[in-house]
Amino acid sequence: MAKKKLKKAAKAKSKPAAKKPARKAAKASKPAVKKASAKPAAKKANGNTPRPSSKPYGMDGKALTGVRILDFTHVQSGPTCTQLLAWFGADVIKVERPGVGDITRGQLVDVKGADSLYFTMLNHNKRSITIDSKHPQGMRVLNALIKSCDVLVENFAPGALDRMGLTWDYIHKLNPRMIVASVKGFGPGPYEDCKVYENVAQCAGGSASTTGFRDGPPLVTGAQIGDSGTGLHLALGIVSALYQRIRTGRGQKVLCAMQDGVLNLARVKLRDQQRLKHGPLTEYSQYGEGIPFGDATPRAGNDSGGGQPGRILKCKGAPEDPNAYIYFITQAPVWGPICDLIGEPTWKTDPEFATPRARLPKLNQIFARIEAWTMTMTKFDVMNACNAVDIPVGPILSMKEIAEEKSLRDTGTVVEVDHPVRGKYLSVGNPIKMSDSISEVTRSPLLGEHTDEILTKVLGFKANEVAEIKNSGALSAPEKKEKAA
Ligand code: COA
Repeated sequence: MAKKKLKKAAKAKSKPAAKKPARKAAKASKPAVKKASAKPAAKKANGNTPRPSSKPYGMDGKALTGVRILDFTHVQSGPTCTQLLAWFGADVIKVERPGVGDITRGQLVDVKGADSLYFTMLNHNKRSITIDSKHPQGMRVLNALIKSCDVLVENFAPGALDRMGLTWDYIHKLNPRMIVASVKGFGPGPYEDCKVYENVAQCAGGSASTTGFRDGPPLVTGAQIGDSGTGLHLALGIVSALYQRIRTGRGQKVLCAMQDGVLNLARVKLRDQQRLKHGPLTEYSQYGEGIPFGDATPRAGNDSGGGQPGRILKCKGAPEDPNAYIYFITQAPVWGPICDLIGEPTWKTDPEFATPRARLPKLNQIFARIEAWTMTMTKFDVMNACNAVDIPVGPILSMKEIAEEKSLRDTGTVVEVDHPVRGKYLSVGNPIKMSDSISEVTRSPLLGEHTDEILTKVLGFKANEVAEIKNSGALSAPEKKEKAA
């Protein structure tokens, strides 16, 4: 894309961008011309807009076809980001340290000799090349990659990229169009040099202090909001930078700090922090229980963050079945149907129960009554009964149930992938569905699987150059390096 875009930009310079589509539009239909000339600003902004494709949806490439990524990521946060970009069609070239590769290849190994699920589930649709970035011949290959890629994504410890010699100035000089995207634990400030993992970010981003029960310790959540959440934020930053580059012709730095990413996801809790100044948080269970608030947003147990009282209630089979529970919300608009369902129709009009305010001090009593009803049925029966009258509820689905859920398989959210070493395994496919950029999940690469292909086909090294680079030991594990020397 880097080269193609340069050509396009050159064309755009010699011909005013607005003219070409205006002429195209004129051929296509008269009203389009009228519309275009009536709004000159819009005409200019859409100066390079091609005619709508005549190919069937899903058959005209993918959203990021033509974008090439130098993927210098490892563990979870960065790989989540580049995997998403790969699903949207970007050519993601994962650079790994010879011999070891991404450390997750060997973490939580379940099948001896095979890349772990930790690695395979975060690195689909990518190619792998091994390069020792601290070797002069390794740097030669990296230079070539920098020149031919659109985006460099990394999540090394603070300063590691600079220590390799890959400073922003260096990269930008080689390729002014390069977008350099980084995940770090913290943004600029007192903690910027710290290494950070998932749970560190959950704690530093405000999530842990607001998760759990009031009378218990802070809790981290199972959803990887620090790693995968920040990777998701970074992907948005990258596609936005790619979009801006169409106009400016230059790359930029994109930084997502994990602390910031978590805080963004815990936004409603900073909302509550400020509301505390104006009185108690009435939708929190502790208000109804008469327990005073402190000076910071408290842990809310299973209360809903949206202001509607909600609890997790037992269903048939609980507590022996650890997941026989349902999330139940007493939303004000559906209070009537709730009362009818649980067999308390008088609560609809009884002033003690009829309004949300009247119900606040009685939430324990109300949820106990609802639970007496939910315990007579399975969570799925409760879900069916409630949804029939538009009461939203959430069955607590186990990972086993999710893995077996047919509808998730049908939509490609849960996919079965075949791997040459480990065989078949389940993964989570692209959760973002697009009608003209359809994701197929392909297996993660073996370590260095595409080294030759990338050197010759992507970077154009001749056979003698490849031999020179390989013989230098820059692409091989230390033992092999010794032999080569
Ligand atoms: N060739 C040669 N050296 C390489 C290399 C390659 N292909 N790839 C990595 N290295 C080197 C780095 O240059 C670095 O060397 P240096 O410390 O001498 O500069 C070294 O490997 C270790 O990299 P680092 O990123 O420090 O790994 P780590 O295992 O010590 O730390 C993290 C891991 C995740 C804690 C750290 O990378 C980090 O804080 N990242 C930012 C936040 C983040 O993404 N955290 C979540 C991860 S899911």
